[in-house]
Amino acid sequence: MTLPQHIAIVMDGNGRWAEARGESRTVGHRAGVDAVRTCVRACAARNIGALTLFAFSSENWRRPEVEVAALMSLFVEALDRELEELQRNRVRLRFIGNRQTLAVRLQQRIAAAEAATADNDGLKLQVAVGYGGRWDLIEAARRIAARCASGALRTEEIDEASFAAELQLAGLPDPDLFVRTGGEHRISNFLLWNIAYAELHFTDRLWPDFGEPDLDAAIADFAGRERRFGRTGAQTRKGGA
Ligand code: IPE
Ligand code: IPE
Ligand code: MG
Repeated sequence: MTLPQHIAIVMDGNGRWAEARGESRTVGHRAGVDAVRTCVRACAARNIGALTLFAFSSENWRRPEVEVAALMSLFVEALDRELEELQRNRVRLRFIGNRQTLAVRLQQRIAAAEAATADNDGLKLQVAVGYGGRWDLIEAARRIAARCASGALRTEEIDEASFAAELQLAGLPDPDLFVRTGGEHRISNFLLWNIAYAELHFTDRLWPDFGEPDLDAAIADFAGRERRFGRTGAQTRKGGA
């Protein structure tokens, strides 16, 4: 079975999961952290190279202040609690997103966790916090423009490779499997550039309920797809001639 090299997941449905139980949305976000732990362990055990999780979008700042505050505290708490196990499993943790929008306390935890796990050779785990796909593209464009203005780069040298090298996921293969839980069929400003050719898998399962069988179902769905990258089916089956 062809395994995806890089899975990107929009972890959606925490609020509805909690509301269905008569609980506050925060309870759903807490349950969501448990699902993250399960998913990270499962990906590591299946030798998936990279996992990128959408935890908080640039648009999620529009939510009620109490929910945003609860999420930010939860991120700090989860980082403190999970770091030891991540180390044990040799997970390399990185954050993607606009860090300047985050509280200094969280920025510090993030920097410390990234430094502590930087040399780990296991699963490459990216957590997107304060991330937006359009923000990512604009930031890359700004850096490229600055290099052109300073004479370090000629405009003819701007190509897909040099552009991608400025994006948050630089150095990683593009996600080949994109998963969204929670029943919505949309991208919600996640990795706009990087998912150009990802296989899309949508499930109604709410994120706190997403477990190993759901991950395996997504992986099996991926394995059954014919990835043609513009070629014909016949070409693809011959080996992409
Ligand atoms: C995803 O769950 C987590 C975040 C966006 C932070 P939601 O909080 O969006 O849950 P629903 O979609 O309201 O159920
Ligand atoms: C997308 O979920 C962002 C995350 C899961 C972090 P949302 O719940 O914010 O998406 P929309 O607003 O329904 O598109
Ligand atoms: Mg949602």
